[in-house]
Amino acid sequence: MKDFLRRRGVKKYKDQAIEQEVLDSILENALVAPTSTSRKLCEFIVITDREILKQLSACRDQRSQFLADAPAAIVVLSETEVSDVWIEDLTIAAYTIQLAAYDEGLGTCWTQIRNRKRSNHESAEDYIKTILNIPDNYEVECIVALGYSDEEKEPYIRKETDCERIHINMYHDTSEMA
Ligand SMILES: Cc1cc2nc3c(=O)[nH]c(=O)nc-3n(C[C@H](O)[C@H](O)[C@H](O)COP(=O)(O)O)c2cc1C
Repeated sequence: MKDFLRRRGVKKYKDQAIEQEVLDSILENALVAPTSTSRKLCEFIVITDREILKQLSACRDQRSQFLADAPAAIVVLSETEVSDVWIEDLTIAAYTIQLAAYDEGLGTCWTQIRNRKRSNHESAEDYIKTILNIPDNYEVECIVALGYSDEEKEPYIRKETDCERIHINMYHDTSEMA
C-alpha cells in the first residue's frame, strides 16, 4: 500500500474509463472488508452508465456534483435488519474501496447519503433508491466516486499538533501540554 499522506479526496477526473480488471480488484477487496460477523452482508452497486451517474450527481446538490464527471461510482448499501452495526460495516467497506482504489492509482471522493437531505428537503436516500430500484429494507451509506485524478493536491504533512490526538496508555489532556 502506498504512502497514506498522499491520499487526498479527488473530485476532478480525467475522461478515461477505469479498466474492468481494476474495478474487479477494488470490488474483491470491498467484498472481504471486515464486518461485525463473519457474514459479509454489505452490497455494492457499480455504476458506469453516464446517464445514471448524471442523475445521481443531483442527490446532494453541490456536495455531489463531481459524480456527473466520474467514470464510475460504487453505491454502498445493506439490509438494515441483518446487523445492529450495519453503519460500521458499510463505513469500513466504503473506506476499503477508497484505499483499494488509491492503491490502483485512482482518486476517490465519498458522497454521504445516510442522514442527508437535498435542498428541496427530500431525503438523498429516497432520491437514490428510486433511481436505482433499491428495496425499502435497504439503507445506503454513501456513494464513492472513482476516477483517474485530474487535479493536483498537496500531500498531507504530519503536524506537531497531530500528536495531541494520540494518548499513550491512558487519556491525557494534551492541550495543557502545548
Ligand atoms: C463520512 C464522510 C462523508 C463525506 N461526505 C462528503 C460529501 O457528501 N460530499 C463531498 O464532497 N465530500 C464528502 N466527503 C469527503 C470529505 O469532504 C473529504 O474527505 C475531506 O474534505 C478531507 O479531504 P481528504 O479526503 O483529501 O483528506 C466525506 C468524507 C467522509 C469521511
